[in-house]
Amino acid sequence: MTGRSEGAAGQGYDAAPYLPARGGLPAHRKAASECRGCPLFENASRTVFGSGGVSARVVLVGEQPGDQEDRQGEPFVGPAGRMLRKALEEAGVDMEEAYLTNAVKHFKFTSAGAGKRRIHKPPSLRELAACRPWLAAELRLVDPDVVVALGAAAARSLFGPSFRVTKDRGVLFPMPAPDGSDDGATAQGSAGAMATIHPSAVLRADDRASMYSGLVSDLRVAAEALR
Ligand code: URA
Repeated sequence: MTGRSEGAAGQGYDAAPYLPARGGLPAHRKAASECRGCPLFENASRTVFGSGGVSARVVLVGEQPGDQEDRQGEPFVGPAGRMLRKALEEAGVDMEEAYLTNAVKHFKFTSAGAGKRRIHKPPSLRELAACRPWLAAELRLVDPDVVVALGAAAARSLFGPSFRVTKDRGVLFPMPAPDGSDDGATAQGSAGAMATIHPSAVLRADDRASMYSGLVSDLRVAAEALR
């Protein structure tokens, strides 16, 4: 850790001062566990950093850890993760080649009812921007062939705030600059990035079957790009 949170003091939120100056994924994971770049660390149990190998060919980016992920410290270990794994398998994306992470590394929630059930709250644009340096570092270190943003929050973090998943899902775009400096416009070699719906949208849908087949069909675009 190299800095103090201004975010917790109500000023600019930014994870950048907490990033290590050097080192690979383990050094970044360790440093992220101390991140105070925005106030979300205050109520979450822990930082949930990405999981998977540094030589992964595809990075899947979710929104933020959920209740189970916050408890276990690993991304996509709850119901959305099970749905994601099923869809990836059906689409032909090998989990052995995948790195799973989130646009925001702390669980944001409100507590409800006597049992104090923790209900997911979407991250704000400020929180997404604050956490962006961690995602940028993961993308730089893993350097995958394909990045898949799952849902609107991840897509905004990757492609910029004007990106619309409903309009541009399932389309492979040139890879945005890892630090977001080009707002999604610059190609990085032959690598590509795309967006699809979040797997939890399938779980919430009235018409689960058609939402699920849409997710699988978008993920087939990634599978094809990985061949
Ligand atoms: N939803 C996400 O976006 N990420 C997780 O890790 C779990 C649920």
